[in-house]
Amino acid sequence: MAGPPIRDTGRVSEAGAGGAGGARAQVTTPEALPDERLTDAALRPSRLDEFVGQAKVKESLQIAIDAAKQRHEPLDHALFFGPPGLGKTTLALLMARELGVNIRTTSGPVLERPGDLVGMLTSLQAGDILFIDEVHRLRPALEEFLYPAMEDYRVDVRIADGAHAQTIPMALERFTLIGATTRFGLLTPPMRARFGLVERLSYYPPDDLAQIIGRSAGILDVPTDVAGIAEIARRSRGTPRVANRLLKRVRDYAQVRAGGKITAQVAAEALKRLDEEVYEPFLMQQGFLARTPRGRCATTGAYKHFGFTPPKTADQPTMFDT
Ligand SMILES: Nc1ncnc2c1ncn2[C@@H]1O[C@H](COP(=O)(O)OP(=O)(O)OP(=O)(O)O)[C@@H](O)[C@H]1O
Ligand SMILES: [Mg+2]
Repeated sequence: MAGPPIRDTGRVSEAGAGGAGGARAQVTTPEALPDERLTDAALRPSRLDEFVGQAKVKESLQIAIDAAKQRHEPLDHALFFGPPGLGKTTLALLMARELGVNIRTTSGPVLERPGDLVGMLTSLQAGDILFIDEVHRLRPALEEFLYPAMEDYRVDVRIADGAHAQTIPMALERFTLIGATTRFGLLTPPMRARFGLVERLSYYPPDDLAQIIGRSAGILDVPTDVAGIAEIARRSRGTPRVANRLLKRVRDYAQVRAGGKITAQVAAEALKRLDEEVYEPFLMQQGFLARTPRGRCATTGAYKHFGFTPPKTADQPTMFDT
């Protein structure tokens, strides 16, 4: 019933690209890190009832799905918006699964010309979903090309340029477009108006995050207790993607240093180390912190930065260091 597995081709974080932002971004950045687009799949809910929280959104979607099924009609075009990592792509995939239709995915910035969409649109069967991530980044020409597709299931395909420019109308099957955006305000009003269902995702409360972490821990087969999960939930910035990422990092620590089980204490220790990982590269890069055989040392620059007189030993190796 479900379509082929789908790869999430959306935006990835620039974390790791260097610079202060890069260093700070690693662990708690809400955007997907470069390697997460593929590994996320294992933890993605595969049924709507596994999708934790967002009760209001889920209810409207369930109603829309049931109604469309009863009428044997395609679902209304739908738009999901909200901060990164809250489940927009996940919901789009779940909609396809619940409806038993195929989903094709693309994203605003990768589409250059209307021609890039023609193949996708004409391959859609009745009821299928076209998912456009970062839909606010569609070029104007593409937006205009999409309007008749969304409204009348038809596109005007241009088959030549210049003086002999010619367009031929092509009929499409009745498909559903699902758009996702982190920047609702950047969507043009005519585009916004063409979505029948508009749903906003909000940050998750700690209880929801705990439930998500508990579920993920089950899939990853890592022993936890309630307090351990709560500790991770508390640090997840309301964002399931961050929660899952922290869980994986804490799991590594638990496995290597603490006998495998994630308790509150193990989680707190692991997260404290992660904090260090977040700030240390930044401080080193700025020349404020040096790794020496004596351990981490504040540099002359760091002392001066805070208006202190550096001790004679700052930056200077002692005879024991060599
Ligand atoms: N409600 C939820 N229940 C369980 N897991 C969730 C939920 N929402 C998100 N997740 C998890 O968080 C990960 C990130 O979610 P998703 O990729 O759908 O976010 P997004 O809103 O599309 O982010 P972006 O704006 O970066 O594209 C998913 O892989 C999934 O495992
Ligand atoms: Mg996404």
